[in-house]
Amino acid sequence: MTEFNASKRMYSRARCSVPAGVSTNTRARQPHPLYFEQASGAWAIDLDGNRHLDIIMGNGAILLGHSCAEVTDAVQRQLSLGLTCGLESAQMCDAAEGLLRAAQWPDLVRFTNTGTEAVQHALHIARHATGRTRIAKVEGSYHGWSDEVFVSVWIDPARSGTPANIVPQPQFAGQRLDLVSETIVLPFNNLELTAATLDRHGDQIAAVLLEPTLIDVGYIPASRAYLEHLREITGKHGIVLIYDELLTGLNTSVGGIGRETGIAPDLALFGKALANGFPLAAVAGREELMRLTEPGCGPAFVGTFNGHAISIAAAAATLPILASGLVQREMNKRGRRLRTSFESEARRLGVKAKLVTGGSHFHWYFCDNEIVDFRSAVNTDAAAYARFTGTLSASGVLTLPNPLSHHAISLAHDEQVLSEMENAFSDALKAVAKAA
Ligand SMILES: Cc1ncc(COP(=O)(O)O)c(C=O)c1O
Repeated sequence: MTEFNASKRMYSRARCSVPAGVSTNTRARQPHPLYFEQASGAWAIDLDGNRHLDIIMGNGAILLGHSCAEVTDAVQRQLSLGLTCGLESAQMCDAAEGLLRAAQWPDLVRFTNTGTEAVQHALHIARHATGRTRIAKVEGSYHGWSDEVFVSVWIDPARSGTPANIVPQPQFAGQRLDLVSETIVLPFNNLELTAATLDRHGDQIAAVLLEPTLIDVGYIPASRAYLEHLREITGKHGIVLIYDELLTGLNTSVGGIGRETGIAPDLALFGKALANGFPLAAVAGREELMRLTEPGCGPAFVGTFNGHAISIAAAAATLPILASGLVQREMNKRGRRLRTSFESEARRLGVKAKLVTGGSHFHWYFCDNEIVDFRSAVNTDAAAYARFTGTLSASGVLTLPNPLSHHAISLAHDEQVLSEMENAFSDALKAVAKAA
């Protein structure tokens, strides 16, 4: 029987100084959060000395594995050279050039700390460039926690109207409802309804913002026709098209969906794997839009820790490793292997489930319907998911309990780790089959 006494004690202590004992509510878990001592490769070790096979991997940020030597060496070197000092560094250019080379279509890039900030900057640019105020986003697409975009992400569709007329829903108490109701929510992968909404409101909309593969509700790629249509219709209405590539930009291919499909947006956001777990995000885009962020041109672009020397050093070390596409191809191969073994075991046991994967990301959907948008993703068997991930957690695999939370592997999830995952998935599927 695994003991979690030290984590339990730490929770009691942490709750006295930190609400819920965690710095982000996504780390809260029942009956109490776990506190880690060390993370290395594919493994995290908690305060009780328990080893957990990590498939959260910093929400997809740690593509090269925990404590990747090339990245930690670069960070240690930078630590000895200094932190932020009111001046820029040559490494900032290395990281910028590396990201632009990877993405190929953007002309310029600027760094922030978090994805949430990068999204805010992109929206300011779009508003200034178009002279319009409203933002359109896709149902189920997550872009951080600011008032106008943390809208209709993980909401019960029964409260949200029909796909033809999605009623924007706030995600949290304290959110500015006037901003929420200004936001237009579009159905993912639905050409006709998206076109109808954009034709109706086009002259009010500054930007259409979406994850070009919806990963924050599992893993749902956009159809090529949908992206082509979006590109065409946003162009027709003079709307700035923004891809949020935080999860796709480097994890699923080199440079993201904009490069991969050749259907480039006007602006895109990158982050997560960009600095292999160090806090760094970026706004990249076409020159005429990005130059608007220069001093005196319009939108503010400020931030004490923007392009922080440590995160920049991490990115400058990470990007060359990701540039050739070898890592992403290897992730695709490993993902396919996990899918094949999971789905054949599910079939054998008579469990309706699929594993959907791209690059390092993967997700289990317990259903037999096709998943094409948020509403089809919600319509899955939450009890089976809970039993499956509960069994995994009990066997030492770190999972997230929300049936729409994605999981990820990394370069450190090698042959042996993958075999352990396959065995754990098989046992968890048996638990689901037994309960059915
Ligand atoms: C697609 C996407 N966009 C934006 C964000 C927000 O980024 P951050 O948590 O760095 O603010 C996330 C974070 O999970 C994300 O997955």
